[in-house]
Amino acid sequence: MNSTKGTKVVLVGTGAVGSSYAYALMNQGICDELVLVDLNQEKAKGDVMDLDHGLVYAPSAMNIKSGSYKDCSDAAIVVICAGAAQKPGETRLDLVKKNMNIFEAIVGSIMKAGFNGIFLVATNPVDILAYATWKFSGLPKEKVIGSGTILDSARFRSLLGQEFNTAPTSIHAYIIGEHGDSQLPVWSSANFSGLPIAPKLTEARKKEIAVSVRDAAYQIIESKGATYYGIAMGLARITKAILKNENVVLPVGSLLEGEYGHSNVYIGTPTVINRTGAKSIVELTLNESETEQFARSVHTLQDIQAQFWE
Ligand code: LAC
Repeated sequence: MNSTKGTKVVLVGTGAVGSSYAYALMNQGICDELVLVDLNQEKAKGDVMDLDHGLVYAPSAMNIKSGSYKDCSDAAIVVICAGAAQKPGETRLDLVKKNMNIFEAIVGSIMKAGFNGIFLVATNPVDILAYATWKFSGLPKEKVIGSGTILDSARFRSLLGQEFNTAPTSIHAYIIGEHGDSQLPVWSSANFSGLPIAPKLTEARKKEIAVSVRDAAYQIIESKGATYYGIAMGLARITKAILKNENVVLPVGSLLEGEYGHSNVYIGTPTVINRTGAKSIVELTLNESETEQFARSVHTLQDIQAQFWE
């Protein structure tokens, strides 16, 4: 296994999400080296050329090239965006069978190349595929991170910011659970500047906001066919937190081992992220309703997992 001390990132899958993520990395100057891997090698080459031509206006240099799984041997992070995408009206869980087989092949090839860094999984259903990556790779849990509810929480904060005419960066609120229909907003701890948000909203308004967050992807997919900018920004944020060893708390997909009373499932929860990956889970204090909703979300994912693992 080679050293992973550098800031080399290998991106597998240069579709809409992957190429938007690559563009975000370049724009924010997050890594020194980026390798694009895609079955469509011509597309990857074209993306390299296209990105390269923007570098002159980027905040820092970045060595971009197209490559293969062999380039993973000394990568700090491998980000997987490859797989079939959600179609209009299709749930993320409908995708699972298609993408499970794709992942077994991809992760196997990457591990054969001697990868010993951190996997960041974005392909849907992301919680199931993060679990699959952890199983297929044999890496310790902290080295496999799903994008989890990083985007759902951003949507939640954005809508609450609009509601209170406040910058979303000043809103502290989490969506946890499945990155999907069983997700839940943690109203009990949502706040801005430490002031609780829930008492300022009616139950009906809270429900409306939660449904808007949960269904945002369906709405965007209906309008433009796919979502990619929001998730790409979330992936870039997680990448920066790892490479800069930030110890920042982000709502990513992490493996539960007793937290919230559940185990053996990757699911969205606030997690401390640093150079080691998912350093530790921040177990929120949930009220009774949130505890029940979270349990339902865990069981939704575990029922799907049970179809593939005993
Ligand atoms: C979404 C995709 C990333 O929620 O699942 O937009």
